[in-house]
Amino acid sequence: MEIIHVAAECYPVAKAGGLGDVVGALPKYQCELGHVAKVVMPMYRTKFLYNNDWELVHEGTRTMGPHFFNYSVIKEKTNKLGFDLYLVDINGLLDREKIYGYDDDTERFLAFQSAVCDWLNKWQHKPDVIHCHDHHTGLIPFMVKYCLEFKDRLADIPTVLTVHNAQYQGWIGWDKHNLLPAFDSWKWGMLDWNNTINPLASAVKCAWKVTTVSNSYLDELRGAANGLENLFNYEQGKSSGILNGIDTHVWNPETDSMIIKNYDTELVEKGKLKNKKELAGQFGLDPDKPLISFIGRLVGEKAADLLPEAISQAIYQHHGKVNFLVLGSGDPELEDRLDQMNHQFNGYYNSYIGYSEPLSHLMYAGSDFLLMPSRVEPCGLNQMYALRYGTVPMVRNVGGLRDTVSDMGDWQGVGIRFDQASVWDITYSVGRAIDLYQNKPDLYSWMRSHMMTIDHSWDSSAQQYIDLYASLR
Ligand code: ADP
Ligand code: GLC
Repeated sequence: MEIIHVAAECYPVAKAGGLGDVVGALPKYQCELGHVAKVVMPMYRTKFLYNNDWELVHEGTRTMGPHFFNYSVIKEKTNKLGFDLYLVDINGLLDREKIYGYDDDTERFLAFQSAVCDWLNKWQHKPDVIHCHDHHTGLIPFMVKYCLEFKDRLADIPTVLTVHNAQYQGWIGWDKHNLLPAFDSWKWGMLDWNNTINPLASAVKCAWKVTTVSNSYLDELRGAANGLENLFNYEQGKSSGILNGIDTHVWNPETDSMIIKNYDTELVEKGKLKNKKELAGQFGLDPDKPLISFIGRLVGEKAADLLPEAISQAIYQHHGKVNFLVLGSGDPELEDRLDQMNHQFNGYYNSYIGYSEPLSHLMYAGSDFLLMPSRVEPCGLNQMYALRYGTVPMVRNVGGLRDTVSDMGDWQGVGIRFDQASVWDITYSVGRAIDLYQNKPDLYSWMRSHMMTIDHSWDSSAQQYIDLYASLR
């Protein structure tokens, strides 16, 4: 089967979060299963672009309302990621260093999607499926079905939408409708949700199949989907949950070159301690105390706003028997607060405000616990990385966290689960973590070695997507 993944992120080309990890891994595993999976994404100006060799495969011209732009598509020459990677360049729109966060993101992703459809329309053959990820590519199922230039050739190509995060929907005012390629105007309802063009809603309506990145998240979306609850209920029949996997080539404590000491299940205790000592040295912490880390976007979905209060309370309540380390970026006020706490809790807490892939690897390896109090967690990859590195996940009972982490109080449980995204639940769980670390060495060591052997690789999920595509032929 030939599968075209269209997405805004793909690791290691450009990554802001888990979407990048998924799009950098799933196609590779699909190729390993004997299929031809390709990725098409915008050509941002990232390091990866400058450090690799490319060939030009297509050039075209588009109009977008009153504007006119040229685009080109380049392909990475060596297939080094394990799949064919195509970048779409549009000068003036996509040639930026960051992925998102610009005032003209609407125009940027509209132009990208229009260029992708135009390019596919010029192919000699048709791919078997177009797989779109999140709202940045959510207008493609509509475009191929209803845009006048594309529908004759492309409308019968099956489209799949994967919802990684329904909080962001890419809303576009109807005053900008003329930026879309001309479409069957009586189909406007397929773009609309609450009098706004809603790319995510449009994709849920127009894609042949919709998947979410865990089963629990699909259930939750029917009750809370940032305004799209009714739509997710209505489209139940074509929706299913497929749990994300992790790229076990990249996330492997035995071979990870970003950590100080590699280890396997046999050497986990010693290996983790060496990595912890490195972290403790870098951040002024005490390697004899349990180290609880947080890694992630500092936003409300991750309940990162609770961290300052929860961490200070936990340090006081548990008489300084625990250390904390935070790696993240996001809300500027929260960034400041977490940064200021470095002085206040010197020796007990530290943070690195920013984005650092190498530090994240060292933290998965060197921490004892990984805290994820998320309010919403469609899947979550951090907890699966933690498990693979023998780090006990402390997670709220929500979305993909519920589907991947069992509580240590349950039979063969490997984590600590709590119900509420609240300071109280977090500090209580910190108490359980300290107790496990200090008083239950046998259970702790069994949990560590057991969690490292759980198979969260993409093998089974990649096959589930293939089966889904096959059902559309
Ligand atoms: P989300 O996609 O919602 O941010 P996920 O758990 O799916 O959450 O994936 C987050 C990914 O981003 C993980 O690979 C995590 O290690 C990484 N990450 C998040 N914040 C940072 C950061 N500040 N520095 C390095 N890596 C980060
Ligand atoms: C989103 C979700 C996260 C998920 C990731 C990859 O960013 O917030 O839970 O793991 O996408 O699917």
